[in-house]
Amino acid sequence: MANRILEGKKGIIFGALNDMSIAWKAAEAAVREGAEIVLTNTAVALRLGTLDELAARCSAPVIVADATSVEDLERLVDETMAHFGGKFDFVLHSVGMSPNVRKRIPYETANYDYMMKTFDISAVSFHKLLKVLYQKDALNDHGSVVALSYIAADRAVDGYSDMSDAKALLQSVTRNFGSIYGRRNGVRVNTVSQSPTMTSAGQGIAGMDKMLDYAGRLSPLGNADAEDCADYIVTLFSDYTRKVTMQNLYNDGGFSSMACSVDVLG
Ligand SMILES: NC(=O)c1ccc[n+]([C@@H]2O[C@H](COP(=O)([O-])OP(=O)(O)OC[C@H]3O[C@@H](n4cnc5c(N)ncnc54)[C@H](O)[C@@H]3O)[C@@H](O)[C@H]2O)c1
Repeated sequence: MANRILEGKKGIIFGALNDMSIAWKAAEAAVREGAEIVLTNTAVALRLGTLDELAARCSAPVIVADATSVEDLERLVDETMAHFGGKFDFVLHSVGMSPNVRKRIPYETANYDYMMKTFDISAVSFHKLLKVLYQKDALNDHGSVVALSYIAADRAVDGYSDMSDAKALLQSVTRNFGSIYGRRNGVRVNTVSQSPTMTSAGQGIAGMDKMLDYAGRLSPLGNADAEDCADYIVTLFSDYTRKVTMQNLYNDGGFSSMACSVDVLG
């Protein structure tokens, strides 16, 4: 097929749990565009989700790893390099979880053990991943690493709780590691700030239905869904975005630039 933008590229996709996951759609889009992929998630996610189905469809191996464990990440990268026979080109970090949000604990009474877990899973894991990739020199020059963020990193969003702080940290890691990895290997590091999306993680947020409705009406283009996000992500893995790095890129139908809309005022 002509003009597949990831032809010859190889990468790892974190975070596909089921067919609602942003990572699931990203995996399908990457393979559609000619990439070869390795899929990874936690052992629990493999039990609770349907990743094996995606793996079969994408002819991709599944390597179990907890993104908070440096040991797991090292094994994942080693096994991925063995599978591909060398370095690879892209990684999607589509990982997030907050026990405070899950347990509906309000931000003002947040449990700090849970908060540290939120930060570790949702943001520090990105630093750990980048560090392992960097130390093992696992990515080809001009490779691309993408993580998923949300507008709550930049503006207050009631109910998003400590995930807001985690996403702010994630975006900061993106800038700092992007500077280092860019200088050494031309590797790009970016976040995509995605519209609210009805996934398993999305369903965990109180008032998600109302948020989807509000964001959809405020956004001139409407909410971006998981497939829209996947299509954007593959452009960031491609050679068409060689000079885009250290950015938080909105894929939100214009939401982040709006203050008021006739569709919200009614
Ligand atoms: N759904 C939304 O509204 C929305 C909006 C903006 C950004 N995001 C972000 O998109 C990303 C993907 O979320 P999603 O909405 O597709 O939901 P999802 O629940 O399908 O994906 C979250 C994934 O994180 C994985 N995960 C959790 N802990 C992990 C760990 N320790 N190690 C490895 N993986 C772990 C889960 O197994 C799951 O596959 C997250 O970073 C999320 O914050 C989601």
